[in-house]
Amino acid sequence: MTTLTAPPVTAALETRGITKHFEGVQALRGVDLEVRPGEIHALLGENGAGKSTLIKIITGIHRHDAGDVLVGGERAEFPNVRAANRAGVVALYQELSIIPSISVAENISLGEGPPSTAGIVRWGEMRRRAGQQLIRLGQRIPLRRLAGDLSPVQQTMVSVARALSIDARVLILDEPTASLTDTEIEDLFRVLRRLREEGVAIVYVSHRLEEVFEICDRLTVMRNGKSVLTQTVGESTIDGVISTMVGREQSDLYPPRGTATEEVVLGVDALTGSRVRDVSFTARRGEVVGIGGLAGSGRSELLRLLAGAQKRVGGSVTVGGSPFRGRSVGQALDAGLALVPEERRSQGVILTSPIDENISIPNLASVSPGGVVSGRRIAKLAASAMSDLRIKASSARQPVGQLSGGNQQKVVLAKMLARGPRVLLMDEPTRGIDVGTKAEIYRLIRELAAGGTTVVVVSSEIPELIGLSDRILVMHEGRVAGELDAATADEEIVLTHAYGRSA
Ligand SMILES: Nc1ncnc2c1ncn2[C@@H]1O[C@H](COP(=O)(O)OP(=O)(O)OP(=O)(O)O)[C@@H](O)[C@H]1O
Ligand SMILES: [Mg+2]
Repeated sequence: MTTLTAPPVTAALETRGITKHFEGVQALRGVDLEVRPGEIHALLGENGAGKSTLIKIITGIHRHDAGDVLVGGERAEFPNVRAANRAGVVALYQELSIIPSISVAENISLGEGPPSTAGIVRWGEMRRRAGQQLIRLGQRIPLRRLAGDLSPVQQTMVSVARALSIDARVLILDEPTASLTDTEIEDLFRVLRRLREEGVAIVYVSHRLEEVFEICDRLTVMRNGKSVLTQTVGESTIDGVISTMVGREQSDLYPPRGTATEEVVLGVDALTGSRVRDVSFTARRGEVVGIGGLAGSGRSELLRLLAGAQKRVGGSVTVGGSPFRGRSVGQALDAGLALVPEERRSQGVILTSPIDENISIPNLASVSPGGVVSGRRIAKLAASAMSDLRIKASSARQPVGQLSGGNQQKVVLAKMLARGPRVLLMDEPTRGIDVGTKAEIYRLIRELAAGGTTVVVVSSEIPELIGLSDRILVMHEGRVAGELDAATADEEIVLTHAYGRSA
């Protein structure tokens, strides 16, 4: 008989050799994951590696083909999400799952079911409990407001509050911070740390590795549907994790600059919207202009004003010397201004249509020589977009709705890139996208610039802003607070301007 030196801790959640096949795709090929009570365990991997699929199997949304899921040491195969929730296993999904047509309080109470007496809902009690969850998150959101009227950030917080309202033993968060600001992320982390102390096992999926290294205790890396590494964060390095994720050494992340010419393409004069005030700048052919600033400083609104997606109150815009009046998105596109919006998943794609149609429909002219739609050109356009952006799919005919979250975003990007605009406006182009593909997107942006496109990029990631841009405009409360040469800028100076602290 062997003697154990220490009793093993029973894992709160464990998966052994999970496999899952979708039509045409082997999504999972054997995933081992072990999450202990009182730890925050990161689940990492490139877009399409299988993270969300694994989570959906654990919570009863998908059936697995082989392998076991164990909760508290017992085999568990939940028939649906409700059953998983009852067993204390709760997931917050990548796609927000709030119901827009009902109130905030009702959305939160969906977790444990509304309190009722003899079948009659106790509305006051429901609002009280929902309010408590929001206070726990440090959020002030009106409980009677329709969830659909909230900002994306508030909607995320409502779904976090719902997950918390269930007494979870295992809490799984699939990219919870994708649309949160830094202070909101800190609020969320405070809550997660408290839950960890209470002994909750937390699985944390994120493409932001700095975040993972800040909050997580251990990590498991998935590659191509398999778990390939589990270790403590203490014994890991960001570079090491990245090369395990992508299965190769990471080349230089940012391509060299120096594609800007002297020719001014975009002229913006005293542009004013609801938040944006009196913004003036020019951008040249082949130049990449980065827009920095805190969330709410007017960065996204500036892009929307330029793209005709929001009504301007004052000021003027010229493209190639001709005035652009900014009345509609269609007019903007005709003038050569194209926007890749921040909320790509909801705004940009038809989920039931295949990849090739999503990419080619807005680019009909380029695939229809002489007015006749050419199947061959559609196929060619889709194939080159898929290889440029490394879109992971079984074929170009796969419906976009079946792709992983990050790969859906790449389709939207591909669609806009294929239009070949004179000025490309991009809002957070790498949010939700894995590190390997980030480098591809940076390379692509620089190639477009080298080909004469002017690129204006909003990013919350300051290293990205500095690495990618030629010039950086930093916004503060609707105005341009500073203009920096990216080659000599550092994070501190960007932040100084962003907080409006520059002399
Ligand atoms: N319902 C489905 N039908 C067909 N294929 C699917 C379905 N859901 C996922 N897949 C495929 O399974 C693979 C894994 O996808 P999954 O969503 O798990 O990736 P992920 O690791 O969460 O990626 P991301 O970081 O982009 O969110 C992908 O190739 C995806 O296309
Ligand atoms: Mg996913």
